Amino acid sequence: MNLKTDRPLVYSRLAELLSTQIAANTYLPGDRLPSVRELALRHSYSMETVLRAFRLLEDRGLVEPRPRSGFFVRHRDIRALPPPSTQSTIFHATNVELSALRHQTILFGTATDFVPLSLTLPSPDILPTRQLIQSITSVARRFPGEVVRQGEPAGASKLRQQLARRVSECGCFLTPDDFVVTVGASEAINLALRACCNPGDIVLVESPSYFGTLEIIESLNLRVVELATDPEQGISVQDVAKALSRFPRIRACLFVTNHSNPLGCTLSPENKQQLVQLLAKHQVALIEDDVFGDLHQPSKTRPVVANWLPVSVLAGLLRANIGIAFSNLNRPAAWRRLL
Ligand SMILES: Cc1ncc(COP(=O)(O)O)c(C=O)c1O
Repeated sequence: MNLKTDRPLVYSRLAELLSTQIAANTYLPGDRLPSVRELALRHSYSMETVLRAFRLLEDRGLVEPRPRSGFFVRHRDIRALPPPSTQSTIFHATNVELSALRHQTILFGTATDFVPLSLTLPSPDILPTRQLIQSITSVARRFPGEVVRQGEPAGASKLRQQLARRVSECGCFLTPDDFVVTVGASEAINLALRACCNPGDIVLVESPSYFGTLEIIESLNLRVVELATDPEQGISVQDVAKALSRFPRIRACLFVTNHSNPLGCTLSPENKQQLVQLLAKHQVALIEDDVFGDLHQPSKTRPVVANWLPVSVLAGLLRANIGIAFSNLNRPAAWRRLL
């Protein structure tokens, strides 16, 4: 068979060759493929044949034309994986011992030569990095004294005022005095746990949960009861009730109630309400790590936090590695004693 004369086969054969190259990462998503003219000249195809091959690849969703720029490899559709199956809770209080794996996870997480999925660090390419740097520089220029002066222990009052306004989006009505500004969510969680628990006490956590919070629990000599999570619904309030009745030393629940890490589940508003009522009855603190609450789809409203309880803590974060966390403890006396 003469590939060069049998026109329909020639273009589909060329499409096969190019798609093999794309599959083997010769051209990566976003890369420009050689131009129609280049391919035609280099391999003695007619321009029409090359164009038809590109159209075939376009129909298969592999490439996309860009006006006056040529054909580019399309970003591959992420195939939906089946959700992980739900495990049942094994009611068992354990010490937390983290292995050397944690160290490795952080090392991998900060690597720049591949996409780190172990830490939830967004790529600088998708952040408004330039605008952030401009704002930071302009604020530092306008308020040089604030940069070097020792600040208020609870954080700059102007910032706390902005935070009080901002959290109305999360369903909270708070005042600047309800806030303590911390360096990242981890410090807020550390303070919150110290305000609620003593060594040997038990904290209810989701399983799986973010390893950094387990590390804080370990450092405070606390124990955990791990609750099984449904990949979409999160923890079950019934399991919380069972755990509370079995373990009188539970002093706090530490949950990522919105877009949890690593599963991504969000507790429904009804479950949040039931959880709060249950914990209020048992006088157990709810520490909500709300670092990802802002990551909702633009078309949807921000999920609320459950934070209605007299002893609850909100640990949230304006991310982008600038590391401002804000924390609200409706028991400020206990919280501020720790500062
Ligand atoms: C659920 C969760 N909480 C807290 C943190 C840590 O936040 P920070 O770096 O502000 O201490 C992370 C980081 O990935 C996280 O995934």
